[in-house]
Amino acid sequence: MNSTSIIFHLIFFLEIFSSLYARLPCEIHDDEISCRSSEFYNFNSSSMNSGMTRSVQAIHLINGYYSGMLADNIHNLTIVDYSYKTFLSPFISPSTLHNLFIDHTFLSIFPTWLCTYNKNLSVIAIDYSNIEQIVEHDLHLCLNLRTLRIINSDLRQFTNSYNVELFLHNLYLNHNHLTEISREHGLSLNQFPYLRSLDLSSNQIKTISSDNFDRTSSLKQLNLSHNHLENFQFTNMCHLISLEKMDLRGNNYLNINENWHDYLPHLINIYLPYAYFCCNYKNNLPSLYEKHNKKLKFDKTISLFNDEDRNKPRDGSNTISISFQSDQACFPLPDQMTPCESLFSSSFIRFIFSLIVFVSVISNLTALIISLCRLITSSYNRWSISTVLSSNLALADFISSIYLVLVGIIDIRFNEDFHIKTQLWTNSHLCTIAGFIYIFGIQSSIYALTLLTFERFYTILFSFKRQTPWPPKFILTFISLGWLISFIVASLPLININDFHANSLCVPFRIENVFDRLYLSLLIIFDVCFIAIIITCNGLICFNFSKSHVHTSNDARATLKILTLVIAICISRIPLIIFIVFALLIRPSYSPNISDYDLHFNNIKLAVLFLQPLSSCFNPFMYSSLSALKWTQTTTEFDRPKPARKALEFSQFRSASAIFNRGYHPLRMMSISSLEYRLSSSPNTP
Ligand SMILES: *[C@@H]1O[C@H](CO)[C@@H](O)[C@H](O)[C@H]1NC(C)=O
Ligand SMILES: *[C@@H]1O[C@H](CO)[C@@H](O)[C@H](O)[C@H]1NC(C)=O
Ligand SMILES: *[C@@H]1O[C@H](CO)[C@@H](O)[C@H](O)[C@H]1NC(C)=O
Ligand SMILES: *[C@@H]1O[C@H](CO)[C@@H](O)[C@H](O)[C@H]1NC(C)=O
Repeated sequence: MNSTSIIFHLIFFLEIFSSLYARLPCEIHDDEISCRSSEFYNFNSSSMNSGMTRSVQAIHLINGYYSGMLADNIHNLTIVDYSYKTFLSPFISPSTLHNLFIDHTFLSIFPTWLCTYNKNLSVIAIDYSNIEQIVEHDLHLCLNLRTLRIINSDLRQFTNSYNVELFLHNLYLNHNHLTEISREHGLSLNQFPYLRSLDLSSNQIKTISSDNFDRTSSLKQLNLSHNHLENFQFTNMCHLISLEKMDLRGNNYLNINENWHDYLPHLINIYLPYAYFCCNYKNNLPSLYEKHNKKLKFDKTISLFNDEDRNKPRDGSNTISISFQSDQACFPLPDQMTPCESLFSSSFIRFIFSLIVFVSVISNLTALIISLCRLITSSYNRWSISTVLSSNLALADFISSIYLVLVGIIDIRFNEDFHIKTQLWTNSHLCTIAGFIYIFGIQSSIYALTLLTFERFYTILFSFKRQTPWPPKFILTFISLGWLISFIVASLPLININDFHANSLCVPFRIENVFDRLYLSLLIIFDVCFIAIIITCNGLICFNFSKSHVHTSNDARATLKILTLVIAICISRIPLIIFIVFALLIRPSYSPNISDYDLHFNNIKLAVLFLQPLSSCFNPFMYSSLSALKWTQTTTEFDRPKPARKALEFSQFRSASAIFNRGYHPLRMMSISSLEYRLSSSPNTP
């Protein structure tokens, strides 16, 4: 080759390149030509093909469009940022264009000529468009069309008035505005009898029935997540017969047939919004497993003898290769904290619960009102410590009874549907409030009880010595400290140290991470300490009775009452502590899943709804001013310490009785009666 010809060639190429790139902002990478123009540019065969080498297989246009014939070697056409409502004129590729991608476009009219001019399209993908409806199309002319994707658009309707059938396998229509599946409106599935995968996630479909899939019997994957589904009805065993994977997550108000699994014989995975949907599935697992094994054998036999089946191009996952994952088919599987039934198994138990709620609300409210009245009518300086403390306790118990009221309301509202609707309640703000009230109530209650017990212990045991009154400020500080601590403890789940929404009782008993465990340990440690103080104080009081040389019949009675009281506290508090301690210490070995902790819903229900309220029902009768009221009404002649007792009055009383030369006895009397007036004793003390 001589130099002139080389120069000639060089000039030739330079000419082409300069003519092309002077006008067109295009670059060639390997097998793709990519054009990005600042102004919209309409390419055509004369502006592009001349400059293209034969190796280019894809055209990528940004802010441009292509009209007219496409070269034979182009397989992919990508149009990005197209800013008109409709395509100007067709691009034409009779047999070679495979993939069409349209992205971020203002296109709102779906071209009806796509397959007329581009018969060999196999993938059409439109993302972020303004297309609202496709009522007429020629997609059936693309015999190789397998995947159609129109996503993140405004699609409301996709129908076809002609009775056409597409050979489509995959249809992705997620993030659109489809509201129903039907022949006339919304999405008409009759067009796609060969569909295998359908993605309708993030649309606005409300109701759906298995009848909607009567023509798509080979559907294997169905994604309906994040719609507004309220009803999914399985009515016919023959539809959805090949479905293997279904996603219904994010449909918070979903109702489906209880026996849905009977309608999905080939199901491998199903994702449901809530665990309770899998309750039935879990119960039926053994029989399902059997059924599946049988089917597997059957399929094997079929495929051995069926030549047609062997020739069919099946996409990898043959029935034989499907492994049945017995515990993974239904997501999420209910754990031990998911109720699979209504909150109360019988109306008798519901009655008992209402009784507890009623007693606890009424008695605490009454006690609260009475002691508040007493506090209001007497001046601040003459407030009795025990009235203040017992009204404090009544308030705390009243707060924890509000939790029971909320649970009662939820139970009345949902009744037998409790386990179905439980997620609505669990995810609500009401649940947060209920959980907060619960922790706040029980914590302040046990604190108030401890304070009251300690004060009584102090009064009785040290009544012989010269008593220094507790200054009101001191008392009020202690009371406020209790409320503050309870408030902080109850607020922790709000900052994600444990969680109110972890179970359908809205109690923060999640055990998933270290903080959850720490939180529960904290609760338990508080409880155990307070219970220990209460038991010790009461024990010392009893011990003191037994040691003294004067035995009154009251001693035995008081001891008995104290014993009852301690037992009541233990019954109401200890079971929950035991359950939680076990759950914290014993990691279930059978499961690697950390959320499978050993708290059982029924145990927690028993502890929280039936045992714990026991003490708050009990307390008003035991401690509060209710009994004090009774006492003041029934005794007038005997000079006992007044309910509005202060240490000052005490010492006056003591010195007065000392003058009457009653010696030790009055002191003894006093200690008993000061206990008595809180224990609601009968008036006839010796
Ligand atoms: C290609 O487009 C140019 C203008 O952009 C036009 O003048 C020309 O006629 C078009 N050629 C064909 C073959 O359509
Ligand atoms: C054409 O599109 C397909 C599907 O996205 C892709 O796998 C292929 O690499 C593309 N071809 C070219 C030349 O870019
Ligand atoms: C049409 O596309 C298929 C692949 O989808 C390809 O095998 C076939 O050769 C194409 N037809 C023509 C005429 O190019
Ligand atoms: C269904 O679609 C959602 C959102 O598009 C996606 O996150 C999810 O993984 C899909 N489900 C399945 C089973 O593929």
